[in-house]
Amino acid sequence: MANAVQNGPSAVIVLAAGAGTRMKSETPKVMHPIGGRSMVEHALAAARDLGPQRLAAVVRHQRDKVAEHILNFDSEVTIVDQDDIPGTGRAVEVGLLGLDESGEVSGTVVVTYGDVPLLRTETLRDLIAFHEEGHNAVTVLTANIDQPGSYGRIVRDAAGEVTAIVEAKDATPEQLAITEINSGIYAFDAAVLRDSLTQVTTDNAQGEKYITDVLEIARKAGHRTAALAIDDRWEVEGANDRVQLAQLGRKLNDRIVEAHMRNGVTIVDPQTTWIDSTVTISNDVTVLPGTQLQGTTTIGTGSVVGPDSTLKNVEIGQNVTIARTHGSDAQIKDGATVGPFAYLRPGTVLGESGKIGTFVETKNASIGKGSKIPHLTYAGDVTIGENSNIGAASVFVNYDGVNKHHTTVGNNVRMGSDNLYVAPVNIGDGAYSGAGTTIRKDVPAGALTVNEAPQRIIDGWVIKNRPGTDAAAAAEAAGSKAQNSSEESDK
Ligand code: UD1
Ligand code: MG
Repeated sequence: MANAVQNGPSAVIVLAAGAGTRMKSETPKVMHPIGGRSMVEHALAAARDLGPQRLAAVVRHQRDKVAEHILNFDSEVTIVDQDDIPGTGRAVEVGLLGLDESGEVSGTVVVTYGDVPLLRTETLRDLIAFHEEGHNAVTVLTANIDQPGSYGRIVRDAAGEVTAIVEAKDATPEQLAITEINSGIYAFDAAVLRDSLTQVTTDNAQGEKYITDVLEIARKAGHRTAALAIDDRWEVEGANDRVQLAQLGRKLNDRIVEAHMRNGVTIVDPQTTWIDSTVTISNDVTVLPGTQLQGTTTIGTGSVVGPDSTLKNVEIGQNVTIARTHGSDAQIKDGATVGPFAYLRPGTVLGESGKIGTFVETKNASIGKGSKIPHLTYAGDVTIGENSNIGAASVFVNYDGVNKHHTTVGNNVRMGSDNLYVAPVNIGDGAYSGAGTTIRKDVPAGALTVNEAPQRIIDGWVIKNRPGTDAAAAAEAAGSKAQNSSEESDK
């Protein structure tokens, strides 16, 4: 992973065992996505970027699902199961014991939550630096908030030293009035943490083992304890229900969009632009309103994307224009144009200066440099060479009801409008086709292909067969007369 530092902490323990009942979801809470990653993936990425020697995740609720999800993201994580003893203290304890199995942990141990997705690596780094420079045994990350609600409160003595963390449910009215809250993110000295946890009981309002008790226990044993307050409370905010999830999603998006703007990307409407944390955008790109950029999408300099486009895992070159397009797993090379109203399905590759135009759907379609599919076309399972043109309203008929077949079109080909390419079929270099051709046979290089179906003219047909209509009156005024030849009626 990126930005790994040399002197990371000895260990990070990410707590992810909670049930998350307020999400009312079959999906475990920490697996709910915001900004292109699940909440726990955000937490793991922030932890991994610290460069810790060891990284553990504590699981219990839906443990198989959560464990698999975590290992999919980062296979180096040690998964530790929490037992039936409830509480954050027990979660940390099993996490530490789990890591101790591969050699006793010493030095700094950081604890974070799997449902706090906006926490940044830099903040954790600040916490560790503050903790180690102060020679603290316990350092808690805190924030000041006006309505501290159910958060644990940070209790300080007359000298301002942190002496305890009190849960709201166990707090006195005076303590409840404290606005400095416990984020639940900590740095501990491993040995002090291990010792203190043996003294933590479940003797409290919730009958749980609280990690928060460690601070007071450590302090009473003569160790240094401290708090580091941060300004941006959203960094330590967790999502307990879908209302909070959406709020965090908005905050995360604001942060991502702002970072891109500061890097030289023009984002015309930050409120309607949604960008995953995994997207890369070069400077001098313009993103128009209503655009969602997702997954591993990358955009090269000079490109204009949007309005109203959703692009997932799309690799976009330089000076590309993409308007009102829905696309996934596609590549658009330098100088190409797409849309408005295009649908790029997986496997679409549009070459340099190529064009996928209006009401065009592509799938597994490789379109060469300078080639164009400008209007009203379905192009599935096709390879098109360079500088070729596909006429309007064409269909690459790739499916015979059982199997998919491939069509190949050469270089400098000029195909007519309303063609059907009944795959498998090959069109040679420089070939032409007439309008309305159904192509079932290969077309050699340089050939013209047409379906010969002579056009008939039946003079006077309208006056004879549609008497009394506006069309008949117009025809008569223009000099048309009913005829009495064999061609006179089409019946
Ligand atoms: C906890 C803190 C509180 C703090 C708040 C910040 C304690 C006792 N209280 O309260 O001071 O203000 O976080 O959000 O620590 N978890 C487990 N196993 C468990 C219980 C929880 O892994 O047995 C995990 C959860 O998945 C979650 C985190 O720990 O990621 C916090 O649990 P939660 O129940 O939300 O703690 P709070 O009661 O909110
Ligand atoms: Mg909570």
